[in-house]
Amino acid sequence: RNLGSLIFIDLRDRSGLLQIVFDEESVGAEGFAKAGTLRSEYVVAVEGTVQKRSAAVNENLKTGDIEVIATSLRILSESQTPPFAIEENSQTKEDIRLKYRYLDLRRPDIQKNLMLKSRVLGLMRQFMANEGFLEIETPILCKSTPEGARDYLVPSRVHPGNFYALPQSPQLFKQLLMASGYDRYFQIARCFRDEDLRADRQPEFTQIDCEMSFVEQEDVLNMFEGMMRTMFKNVLGVDIPNPMPRMSWYDAMDKYGSDKPDVRFGMTIHEITDKVKGKGFSVLEDAAYVGAIAVPGGAEYTRKQIDELTEWVKRPQVGAKGLIYIKLNADGSVKSSIDKFYSPDELKVIAEAVEAKTGDIVFVMSGDSNRKVQTMLGVLRIEMGNRLGLRDPKVFAPLWIVDFPLLEWSEEENRFTAMHHPFTAPRDEDLPLLLTNPGKVYAKAYDMVLNGTEIGGGSIRIHRRDVQKKVFEAIGLSDEEAQEKFGFMMNAFEYGAPPHGGLAFGLDRLIMIMAQRDSIRDVIAFPKTQSASDLMTQAPNDVDEKQLRELHIKTSLLMKKDKEDK
Ligand code: AMO
Repeated sequence: RNLGSLIFIDLRDRSGLLQIVFDEESVGAEGFAKAGTLRSEYVVAVEGTVQKRSAAVNENLKTGDIEVIATSLRILSESQTPPFAIEENSQTKEDIRLKYRYLDLRRPDIQKNLMLKSRVLGLMRQFMANEGFLEIETPILCKSTPEGARDYLVPSRVHPGNFYALPQSPQLFKQLLMASGYDRYFQIARCFRDEDLRADRQPEFTQIDCEMSFVEQEDVLNMFEGMMRTMFKNVLGVDIPNPMPRMSWYDAMDKYGSDKPDVRFGMTIHEITDKVKGKGFSVLEDAAYVGAIAVPGGAEYTRKQIDELTEWVKRPQVGAKGLIYIKLNADGSVKSSIDKFYSPDELKVIAEAVEAKTGDIVFVMSGDSNRKVQTMLGVLRIEMGNRLGLRDPKVFAPLWIVDFPLLEWSEEENRFTAMHHPFTAPRDEDLPLLLTNPGKVYAKAYDMVLNGTEIGGGSIRIHRRDVQKKVFEAIGLSDEEAQEKFGFMMNAFEYGAPPHGGLAFGLDRLIMIMAQRDSIRDVIAFPKTQSASDLMTQAPNDVDEKQLRELHIKTSLLMKKDKEDK
């Protein structure tokens, strides 16, 4: 602001803003003239006197009660007019901000997130050191192993036609470190996964990766909920319940339709399969599972709102065939899309089973598998939680999900696959079931869930070769295949491996939630877009013919048809 005899500027650094005042008397004629040429984003050095602000205090600014009267000014660097204003809560489109990420990173909200991340990392390192963990690095150029997400591959120059894989996690190495006697390990580990991206997923992300020897599940849970408690208390002043709540995987799926339930609000799923039979309504009559949720205050919804929600659940992302409703009106009457088949009293009995109250709407879905219907109801539940403002980002509700099944049936591959990874230990008492009823075997596995996001997960590992062999057998991996893929690991366990287990936290996700952001990109300095590109550097890109030749590679992209032929 140039007021003629006075020039005010807001000087910004990563700690915030400070008002500088130039008057000719203090800074001299030359300095004052120079101050007149200052523009946004110029880099300056100012000397002066800090004093109480002469005009009214600026309540919006942390430094709002002081200002600096400049006695000298140096312009260290000039700036072109930036393509967007450097301000908090920028409305500029994200692809523009990502293209000029170095400018976007100057915005205070992003800076706050990265400072928070740095602080959390510092505290975690301290916590781990106090608990006797060693920080050990593991390779980035690795062997490609099956199970899990798609690998990023790196061609080898020295071994024509061979590839390294970038690590999806340091899983094998950290277990080998246990076999080597480093009984408490951790690493701030970069991981790479070529999967479809979402708001909480990046192709490369950071794990706080941990492993401990001579532990049972209880030891691991205690250690790491302790770490979270320390973190939340020190950084946000938030008390995490001690002990942290736990929920079995089956309960999470049955009641929340998700293995990462958001427990900041209720609206849980109730099974009503038995309550709706015998009335001749085939959609419910013929269904293997019928479930419902009660949405508070939903009896007010108009026809139009219900139609819109019905369309919403029919989108392929949710995949429902339709949405049945029962409204419990304030005047005691009942209105429902199935009132041709059910009397008001029958509808009330159903609504009661869902714990609906007067003024609520009950949404019912049915289908041929409980998990499919529960998952759809779970998605609807989260959407209703969003719409009703029940998902308050200032509330932190962490819990452990425990008692996972060891294996899950894959329709696609027509075999059981490991739900976590194939080194997860089955519960001791379930060992005999491994080959007779594999779907019923529980794992010694656990996930930490915070506000509907999985922020960490791990397990007690198999450390005995006979058990490992049985698990490989159960997932249809032959001895030869197992030896070829994981031989080094199985051999290592031949030489005395301690019982061990651990987990990994997704650092970026954790910070995203602590910083109350919706996108993981807001807490990563140089993130990738949804299509895994870096808009600033334009990676991935073409490379020189010469580079390819050195790698013994000739590109000839497979067309869709070639892929199908394959
Ligand atoms: P998992 O695959 O569950 O376990 O990963 C651990 C945690 O990492 C985070 N995460 C991600 N964050 C951002 N973008 C991604 N693409 C992404 N994928 C995962 C999640 C998740 O909970 N080796 C095992 C851990 C173990 O068993 O010790 C592992 O990697 O927050």
